[in-house]
Amino acid sequence: MKIYFCCTDFKAEPWLAALRAALPQAQIEVWAPGAGPADYAVVWAPPQQFLDEQPQIKALFNIGAGVDALTQLKLSPKTKLVRLDDAGMSVQMAEYVTHALIRHFREFDVYAADVANAKWSFRKPRLREDFPVGIMGLGVLGQRVVRAVQTFEFPVRGWSRSPKELHGVPCYAGDAQFAEFLAETKVLVCLLPLTEETRGIMNRETLAQLRPGAYVINVARGAHLVEEDLIPLIDSGQLAGATLDVFRQEPLPAGHPFWRHPKITVTPHTSARTLRDESVAQIAGKIVALEQGKPIAGVVDHHKGY
Ligand code: NAP
Ligand code: GLV
Repeated sequence: MKIYFCCTDFKAEPWLAALRAALPQAQIEVWAPGAGPADYAVVWAPPQQFLDEQPQIKALFNIGAGVDALTQLKLSPKTKLVRLDDAGMSVQMAEYVTHALIRHFREFDVYAADVANAKWSFRKPRLREDFPVGIMGLGVLGQRVVRAVQTFEFPVRGWSRSPKELHGVPCYAGDAQFAEFLAETKVLVCLLPLTEETRGIMNRETLAQLRPGAYVINVARGAHLVEEDLIPLIDSGQLAGATLDVFRQEPLPAGHPFWRHPKITVTPHTSARTLRDESVAQIAGKIVALEQGKPIAGVVDHHKGY
């Protein structure tokens, strides 16, 4: 069995070593243009040439949860595309989102500014009931974040494409219930995949439907947010601020106004990192299952785009 590693932005050597240890029967190499046919590939943002040259591939294993870098390429609908299914990412996402939520709710940035001036002063306690959290995307990561937010007793609701039933969580689905979901939300968390339906979903019109003084946490993809709409909404007081982990252009350009806005917190696409050992174990397990003709989880639906 032959497997190619074709991952932009990842150092190949440690991945090759881990994959070879997990699949000793396989021949595992870094893909190079013109290389012969392989059975499987481990990919992250591969070039179109890779897909064009490897039409026989039995499955492409994306080493991330989001497959938008692949779905934007010309990809045969017959190609089996497999995303990472948690693999240690959901608990990271839960940490990140609850940290951003609590930092905003407890006004820790205000305390940090006071501390910098040796100022001892208290903020009036705020009520959780006034900070209902709305999570867009109730998949692998969204549902884990729901549980984490519930631990801190914030009211939480979710929105997804298909209807869901989650214990103690009002769930909204589809376009028909989007306005109602937004109107009930004070802290909006985006955990959607990037598809043609979700691109630009956070914009002037939708963000203005949130509760006044709402807060935005985007941990999905930069293109979910119409970036130029955000600062005017914050400066007018419609929004209280935002924590952003993802951007239309990454790395975020040095001159981008998000870096310096006092009510925007920027992190460098780090909310849930790909963990090598967990990812390799998951991919190796799925390759073995496929070779045995067994079904696997995490196969992307080409029609839905995630
Ligand atoms: P997932 O399991 O596929 O879940 C996606 C959720 O979004 C599902 O609940 C789905 O609804 C919902 N959805 C999709 N299209 C929708 C639409 N048009 N309207 C309403 N809901 C829609 O994905 P995941 O593993 O949770 O990951 C989510 C995303 O997080 C990834 O695609 C990636 O972009 C991002 N991510 C970011 C980082 C980071 O470090 N910043 C790390 C990992 C992942 P249904 O349940 O009805 O299908
Ligand atoms: C990271 O952004 C991922 O999609 O896993």
